Amino acid sequence: MTDTLAIKITKVTQSRLASVDFENLQFGKTFTDHMFTADYANGEWGNFQIVPYGEISISPAMSSLHYGQSFFEGLKAFKHDNGTVSIFRPDKNAERFNASAERMCMPTLPEEIFIESISTLVNLEKNWIPNQANSALYIRPFMFATDPFLGVAPSTTYKYMVLTGPVGAYFSKNLNVKIETEYSRASEGGFGYAKCAGNYGGAMYPSKLGTQQGYDQLMWTDSKDHAYIEEMGAANIMFLVAGTLITPTTRDTVLNGVTRDSILTLAQQWGIPVEERRVSVAEIIEAAQNGKLTDAFGAGTAAGVASVISITYKNQKYDLPNPAHSEFTQRLSKTLLDIKYGRIEDENGWNVVV
Ligand code: PLP
Ligand code: COI
Repeated sequence: MTDTLAIKITKVTQSRLASVDFENLQFGKTFTDHMFTADYANGEWGNFQIVPYGEISISPAMSSLHYGQSFFEGLKAFKHDNGTVSIFRPDKNAERFNASAERMCMPTLPEEIFIESISTLVNLEKNWIPNQANSALYIRPFMFATDPFLGVAPSTTYKYMVLTGPVGAYFSKNLNVKIETEYSRASEGGFGYAKCAGNYGGAMYPSKLGTQQGYDQLMWTDSKDHAYIEEMGAANIMFLVAGTLITPTTRDTVLNGVTRDSILTLAQQWGIPVEERRVSVAEIIEAAQNGKLTDAFGAGTAAGVASVISITYKNQKYDLPNPAHSEFTQRLSKTLLDIKYGRIEDENGWNVVV
């Protein structure tokens, strides 16, 4: 990696690494020693720094707190058996970062800054990447508006930051899922495709109701008729119906997932029929009833390949076959992990070595 950004690095005097229990990591609770930070002012990005992880000082009038100009990304770095460290498809996250920025009326970030900020930080925190199976260093780039101004207008100043932290598997079990038919996550013409903070805040209340009813995740449907499936929690959703891999088309209500894209690519390379289209609730329920729905899973960076074991629609529960016995799901999750950990040839050139 060439250092072209002139990042000022201030290191911690004492690492916290020795105090971390890597066998019992909870997602998003452990952070590495350092974080990346940059500022946007007068129409350009500058002040690139890596500093000790810690609190930052903000104005209570900071516009992102009031009007939600704030969004993020999520990606992972993996340690291979030979010690090599690679980041999975950061170019895709850089692209989506800027799609979110545009929709939120925020400045874009040149891809080189995105990639270099992440690579430099990951390189510095290499020792924090867990060796445990299914574990990785989670990378959280984010941007937020910083003008201390209560007028409803795009901010003129912004902060870009990157946090990193070791994580294990996000879900520890197969998921019991409810098809949501009352609340919506996103609507046409809205910003469901942007990874902005409000999309997650708005999903919390319906998700809490789902949890209270005993469901692990909600399967979101279109906001007009609740007749078409869109996503599942913080993941894209995929179905194997009679041997065909089916997933909702990405549109303005659906996040364009990197894991989704990777799975579609692998399935096509394996000669499995793939359909990206609108997917109706009715057809999935029918396929579940007649046994043609053999696999259903969420696909996401944090979630990985997260298998669904039951789908409930209008209080009727449909059980799915045990994913442990599914040749497709097993092959898929193993192959994805094998690529990320460098155990097999990365034929699509997805790993960016740090
Ligand atoms: N959909 C939503 C709403 C998400 O938050 C995520 C997670 O990032 C995904 C889908 C999956 O996207 P990716 O595979 O890029 O992580
Ligand atoms: C990710 O998979 O990176 C996500 O963004 C999910 C997160 C909201 C927990």
